[in-house]
Amino acid sequence: MGKKLLLEHINEPGIQSFEVYRKKGGYASVEKALKSMKPDEVTEEVKRSGLRGRGGAGFPTGMKWTFLDRRSEKPRYLVCNADESEPGTFKDRYLMEHLPHLLVEGMITSSYALGAKTSYIYIRGEYMYIVRILEKAIEEAYANGFLGKNILGTDYSLDLYVHPGAGAYICGEETALLESLEGKRGNPRLKPPFPAIAGLYACPTVVNNVETIAAVVPIINIGGDEYAKIGVGKSTGTKLISASGHINKPGVYEIELGIPVEEFIFSDEYCGGIWKDRRLKAVVAGGSSVPILPADLIFTTAKGEPRLMTYESLADGGFATGTMLGSGGFIVMDETASIVENLYTFSRFYHHESCGQCSPCREGTGWLEKILHRLREGHGKKEDVDLLVSVAKNIEGKTICPLGEAAAWPVASAVKHFRKEFEEAAARLQLSAVQKAELATH
Ligand SMILES: Cc1cc2nc3c(=O)[nH]c(=O)nc-3n(C[C@H](O)[C@H](O)[C@H](O)COP(=O)(O)O)c2cc1C
Repeated sequence: MGKKLLLEHINEPGIQSFEVYRKKGGYASVEKALKSMKPDEVTEEVKRSGLRGRGGAGFPTGMKWTFLDRRSEKPRYLVCNADESEPGTFKDRYLMEHLPHLLVEGMITSSYALGAKTSYIYIRGEYMYIVRILEKAIEEAYANGFLGKNILGTDYSLDLYVHPGAGAYICGEETALLESLEGKRGNPRLKPPFPAIAGLYACPTVVNNVETIAAVVPIINIGGDEYAKIGVGKSTGTKLISASGHINKPGVYEIELGIPVEEFIFSDEYCGGIWKDRRLKAVVAGGSSVPILPADLIFTTAKGEPRLMTYESLADGGFATGTMLGSGGFIVMDETASIVENLYTFSRFYHHESCGQCSPCREGTGWLEKILHRLREGHGKKEDVDLLVSVAKNIEGKTICPLGEAAAWPVASAVKHFRKEFEEAAARLQLSAVQKAELATH
C-alpha cells in the first residue's frame, strides 16, 4: 500500500467534524507553526519539501511563496483555487467534501507563513453543497480558536471566507479568478504584474490549488525533508489522481509520485485494469488540456524506460511522444472509444468556455468545434484534418492566458497519434457526398 498523507483518515466516521478530525491529529500543523516556527521557517519547510503546485502547472510552491512582495505595506492575501473545472478532474471536490478541515487547516498554516490576515477559498458555483460543508468547518474552527483574533493565544489573527463563482472554467485561471473575486467579469489579466506583486485588490497575493494547500499540513507535521523523500527526483510527495473512463475502479486515488503508469492502470490498489476485458487504446493523463497518448506510448518513455507517474517521466519525449501530469485528471479509453468524438467533446467545451478576450482563442476554438462537428456528422472534407492542426497552431502561444494552449494541445496530439481515424472520418463522409451527388443526378 502506498503512503497516504492526505487521505489517511478519509474513511473515519465523522471525519468531516472538527471533533473527530482533531482527535485524529488534526490542526497539529497550526499548533506547530504558530507556537514554534517563524512564518519564514514555514515557507522554508515548504521549499525543502519540493512540493509543486497541484493545480496543473506544477510550479514549485515554496518558490512561489518567496516571490510574494513582503516589503509592500499593503495587506497580503492567500487565495485557494477551488474552481476545479478541468474535464476529468474531481480530486479537489473529493478532498473538500470528505476532509474539509484538512483544507481549513492548510489555509491557516499557509496564511501564517505568508502573513495573510484575510484569506479566501474561491470555489466553483456548481459545488454549492461543498460551500456549506466548508462554511460549517470554518465555523467550527472559529469556535475552537483556530480562526479569528489571536489564534491559540498568539498574536496571529486570520479571517477565512468561502466565495462561490458562477460556473466558468476561465475563473480557474488565477488572474481571472482574482477579477471574479473582486466582483468583476472573470477575464484573465495581462502579466506582469504577477499576483505576487499585484493580485487581489492590487495587493500581494498567492493563489494555490486546494490539494497544494492541503499538502502543507503533512509537510509541516513531518518536515520538508521527510516529505521530499517520497517520490522521484523533482516529483516529491503524494498526488491525488482522479481516475475515470473505461477502467474497473474509477475514483480518486492518492499515489506516491513515481509509481509506474502500468501499475496505476492495472493494479487492484488503483484503477483495477481496463473494464470488460477490453484493450487499452489511449490515455489523457492530466485533464483534458494535456496531449493524449496512445497505448503504445503510455507505458514506456522515449528512452525505453518504464513511464512513471511523475511530472518529468510523463513529459519525457516532449510533445512528440510525451504528455503532462497536469491536474491529475486521468482519463482512460478502451478500444471502442472514438478519438474524433472525444476531441469534439473537448473542443466544444473550450469554445463554450473561452472568455472571448483574445481573437485567436475566441474564433479559433469555434472553428475547431465546427470542423470536428462536420467530421463526425458527415459533412467533412479531406483537408479538414490538416485544417484542424493549422487552426490549433494559430491559437497556441497567441493568447493572454493558457486556455489557448489547453484547447490546441489536445487537437495537435490527437491528430498526430490517431491521424488515420480522422482521415477515415473524412473519407467516410466524402464517400457519402459522392453518393449524394450520384443520387441527385437520378
Ligand atoms: C483556463 C485555466 C483554468 C484553470 N483552472 C484551474 C482550476 O480549476 N484549479 C486550479 O487549481 N488551477 C487552475 N488553473 C491553474 C491556475 O491558473 C494556477 O496556476 C493555479 O491555481 C496555481 O496553483 P498551484 O501552484 O497550487 O497549482 C487553470 C489555468 C487555466 C489557464
